[in-house]
Amino acid sequence: MYICLCQGVTDREVASLLQQGGVGMRQLRQQLKVGTQCGRCTCTVRQMVNRFYQIAEPADSSVVTLVTSAEPEATRQRVA
Ligand code: FES
Repeated sequence: MYICLCQGVTDREVASLLQQGGVGMRQLRQQLKVGTQCGRCTCTVRQMVNRFYQIAEPADSSVVTLVTSAEPEATRQRVA
């Protein structure tokens, strides 16, 4: 599925780069040019990056774990 229509970038291309490791938004922007034109795809690509690097799923699906990455050390907060 295309996630960046301006540059014709698919989710598979983004996932492929992420799986190479050590890739973040800056590298995706430089290599695939995502988010360099209208910027509509930036949020979706950022979600893919966050999902890729945050693999842990809570054992109980009724409990949601929020991760605040703005802190130097990630702060986890459980929400019932
Ligand atoms: S959709 Fe990605 S820059 Fe426009």
